[in-house]
Amino acid sequence: MQDQNSGKRTIRSFVRRVGRLTPSQQKALDELWPDYGIEYLVEPLDFQTVFGRHAPVVLEIGFGNGESLVQQATENPDRNFIGIEVHAPGVGHCLLRARDAGIDNLRLMNHDAIEVLSHQIPCDSLSRVNLYFPDPWPKKRHHKRRIVQPDFLHLVADRLQKSGTLHVATDWADYAEHINEVLSRSDRFTCTEHREHAGDRPLDRPGTKFEQRGLKKGHRIRDWCLLKSTNT
Ligand SMILES: C[S@@+](CC[C@H](N)C(=O)[O-])C[C@H]1O[C@@H](n2cnc3c(N)ncnc32)[C@H](O)[C@@H]1O
Repeated sequence: MQDQNSGKRTIRSFVRRVGRLTPSQQKALDELWPDYGIEYLVEPLDFQTVFGRHAPVVLEIGFGNGESLVQQATENPDRNFIGIEVHAPGVGHCLLRARDAGIDNLRLMNHDAIEVLSHQIPCDSLSRVNLYFPDPWPKKRHHKRRIVQPDFLHLVADRLQKSGTLHVATDWADYAEHINEVLSRSDRFTCTEHREHAGDRPLDRPGTKFEQRGLKKGHRIRDWCLLKSTNT
């Protein structure tokens, strides 16, 4: 993912879509971003300053429209949540849901999660990272764009605290094979639970919009709970 000569990343897990913001999403970005938004900066965040309290921090990568993220934050008031999403309409939608839920334990970022993890999230700081239904990049020539890669596992493991966990779910059988293959070559995580199901047994998470899309196409769902290894 890293260009050896320039140090710049060349392969990204997303294509910036020119998604149109609805007037209410635009209003949410204008009015609610100051309360819920965190700007991308190349300097580590101080979670105590961001949330005004100490609590375990859960980070979600690619939250889509954010409905399941808001549900998790609402159901877990004792934890702090950070959601990262590159698609601005999804951020606008999530802001509206967060305001409706009246929660204060959620902050959002509109940026590439790899850059945020690399530059803004301190080492050994997160209790949990959630990656639910990452873009599958089904064509073989695009597999290198899949976010789950050896470098990604290293980066996430470095940002997780001791005993921190990475939770992954996908509805693409081929991506599930890819994930198992990358995991089998990693010493950074131990799989504590792996489930295959029909959308009826999500592993410690709510259902998501993209999960529903997959189920409508007849896909089966795979969930992993991965524990940061103690020896790395
Ligand atoms: C298939 S959607 C899944 C959305 C949601 N998790 C769900 O299950 O409904 C994947 C999302 O990840 C976002 N995404 C992909 N790569 C990302 C990255 N590097 N940083 C932040 N968001 C990313 C995309 O914009 C997209 O909204």
